[in-house]
Amino acid sequence: MNDTILITGGAGFIGSNFILQWLRSEAASVVNLDKLTYAGNPRNLSSVERHPRYVFVRGDICDAALISDVLDQHRPRAIVHFAAESHVDRSIKGPAEFIRTNIEGTFGLLECVRAYWGNLSPADRERFRFLHISTDEVYGTLTPTEPPFSETTAYAPNSPYSASKAASDHLVRAYHHTYGLPTLTTNCSNNYGPFQFPEKLIPLMIHNALQGNPLPVYGDGQNVRDWLYVEDHCDAIREVLAKGRPGETYNVGGNSERKNIDVVRTICEILDEVVASSPGVPHGQLITYVKDRPGHDRRYAISAEKLRAELGWVPKTRFEDGIRRTVLWYLENEAWVRDVVSGEYQHWVDLQYGGARD
Ligand code: NAD
Ligand code: TYD
Repeated sequence: MNDTILITGGAGFIGSNFILQWLRSEAASVVNLDKLTYAGNPRNLSSVERHPRYVFVRGDICDAALISDVLDQHRPRAIVHFAAESHVDRSIKGPAEFIRTNIEGTFGLLECVRAYWGNLSPADRERFRFLHISTDEVYGTLTPTEPPFSETTAYAPNSPYSASKAASDHLVRAYHHTYGLPTLTTNCSNNYGPFQFPEKLIPLMIHNALQGNPLPVYGDGQNVRDWLYVEDHCDAIREVLAKGRPGETYNVGGNSERKNIDVVRTICEILDEVVASSPGVPHGQLITYVKDRPGHDRRYAISAEKLRAELGWVPKTRFEDGIRRTVLWYLENEAWVRDVVSGEYQHWVDLQYGGARD
């Protein structure tokens, strides 16, 4: 075993931010195994393509032969498992891929890792970590006054996405309890920041607003999410990987509960200020209430108190700063956006919103 870490799904939103941060902050090499679905974009990592400590392998986590080869060849001391189908609306329109990647893929990966780990020396077995990246959505929904989710909140997933993530969390837990695999799980709230695919709320609204297109707010816009700037999430993952206790789960949250409508209004206000020449000014006039998402969870809020008390992690970025930075990033990276909204994206927009938006 050497010092390398293996990332799955590193060409997606959080994974690519994680790899960029890792290469800036840590000394060990990274192998990124990614299938490059619609959500995976090698452009996110173009700045490190030729980095001496970065290796990319295109592949599917369901491909056991490939995973075993990668483990044998690179001998990683840890795996950080990001790869997943991640968009709730897509899971409602077509759950099958979520079951395949999130449940069967995690299971296949765990099986390969169990075999690899079982053949390590006792000292290496002790040092090895499997870090599973999950979501707060496994806990279901909160009323406006309920306390935030903690690590002991009962699982109650409500969408095919969250149910598939819950299943994968249970598998990871079982591999620790049954086989002793040194696993860690993080359950994080909604992330935002650079490189997020514009199917998710924040980049979708920025993109539509810049095009002068409607800003589709589901239902009454009063649903609440707890927003975390992606760099803070990546910091938390590095802390948990370095110091987390095997078998434990850690909740990660931004302490920034916001109603969807307020998030959208904030984006509009920033755009009014920084792109006064945009066709949509004032951008708030583009807000359009649309049919609600089926089974739409009302509120997520997460207590990251365990992570603070045990590992000293707290989110550093205020929502007001992070959202401004994110809007500016999308403005400065027009070519990245143009690239990702070509092709398959248009098909998704038509299917979900019933008409062209670009
Ligand atoms: P994403 O959809 O942007 O990226 C997913 C990546 O996984 C893509 O690069 C894709 O190509 C890859 N992938 C998908 N199926 C694969 C397969 N079968 N084999 C190999 N690679 C595959 O997702 P994200 O937003 O970066 O989320 C990453 C992880 O974090 C997911 O597990 C998600 O559940 C979790 N999470 C996300 C959020 C959030 O707000 N985005 C919050 C909490 C947890
Ligand atoms: P999303 O970014 O899809 O994350 P999640 O469903 O995992 O929380 O959505 C965030 C919130 O924004 C959620 O309450 C649904 C809402 N939303 C809209 O109102 N309109 C949209 O077009 C999208 C994509 C989301």
